Amino acid sequence: MSLFSKILVNTLPLIPKAIVGYFSRNYIAGPALEDAIAVVRDLNAKGMMATLDLLGEEVQRKEQSLDATEQYLVMLNEIDRLKLDCNVSIKPTHLGMNLDRDFCFDNVKKIVSKARDLGNFVRIDMEDHTVTSATIEMYLRLKKDYEDHVGTVIQSYMRRTYDDIQNLIKEKANLRLCKGIYVEPEDIVFKEMKDINKSFKENLDELLKNDCYCGIATHDDELVFHAFNTIEELNLKKNRYEFQMLLGVTEKLRDKIVQEGHRLRVYVPYGQDWYQYSIRRLKENPRMATMIFQKVFGFKRS
Ligand code: FDA
Repeated sequence: MSLFSKILVNTLPLIPKAIVGYFSRNYIAGPALEDAIAVVRDLNAKGMMATLDLLGEEVQRKEQSLDATEQYLVMLNEIDRLKLDCNVSIKPTHLGMNLDRDFCFDNVKKIVSKARDLGNFVRIDMEDHTVTSATIEMYLRLKKDYEDHVGTVIQSYMRRTYDDIQNLIKEKANLRLCKGIYVEPEDIVFKEMKDINKSFKENLDELLKNDCYCGIATHDDELVFHAFNTIEELNLKKNRYEFQMLLGVTEKLRDKIVQEGHRLRVYVPYGQDWYQYSIRRLKENPRMATMIFQKVFGFKRS
């Protein structure tokens, strides 16, 4: 990332919300469930699966979590009614993890139970390190009763991940593996991209060799090609893994994966609470600095 981009990333919170909204529109389906459903239909027509995420995190009041829980139940009913190839992704702190862990568990259990009744699946996203252990514990508790209907996420930037994966393999866990997006201290995460990628490859191979269902969530072509090789070496069946990408990111690579005959799921966020998610996506976009500069100042930076 150039020095200019780094400076802009640090000043992103100062950029007017309307401009952040303008640049994040490709990453978000829209404010309402109908917007998200239209995007999912389009993806399904192109041979891709989807996962719906109602935007929201770190809520301050229990009513917000209860409202989100209800919205997830409606979402699962709609997916079923419209016969979409789509599951749902949830964030523990949206459902109250930082307010009251039992309350959060009850909310997540309601959603997973509904998914089980409808033959669907819930992926519990992984947030920052303060909730890693609690999220894994919640997943393992739910897995006992809802085996094929719930999974969680592991982040390759976490130093603890190799050990977590050894334990999760024993449980035949269903995991999404991603790099990890939260800003964390150096004693908790690898900071260098080469270390994060090395960890991603090692942990992916461990999961696939040990027959754990894996969502390979990355836009990094080095990691995608590594996965292709491991899948071929192990002669893995297509239903033992899937690739996953975020809406609006690296669509060419996405198409290539599908053309090669692999299953691919697109993460489709929607809702009113779009700001935090958008800031994270913009920080990852290598062209973001140039685009925002052009929009704010109305001319091209040479
Ligand atoms: P990397 O960031 O190196 O990107 C590789 C290339 O992809 C870049 O060089 C660029 O070309 C392109 N790219 C990436 N992001 C872009 C963007 N926003 N705009 C334009 N181009 C972009 N994290 C987490 O902590 N908890 C979670 O639960 C999840 N869940 C999740 C689900 C899914 C389906 C995905 C794909 C990702 C997540 N993540 C996540 C986010 C993940 O941790 C990571 O931050 C991003 O995927 C970016 O990492 P990459 O592996 O894509 O590599």
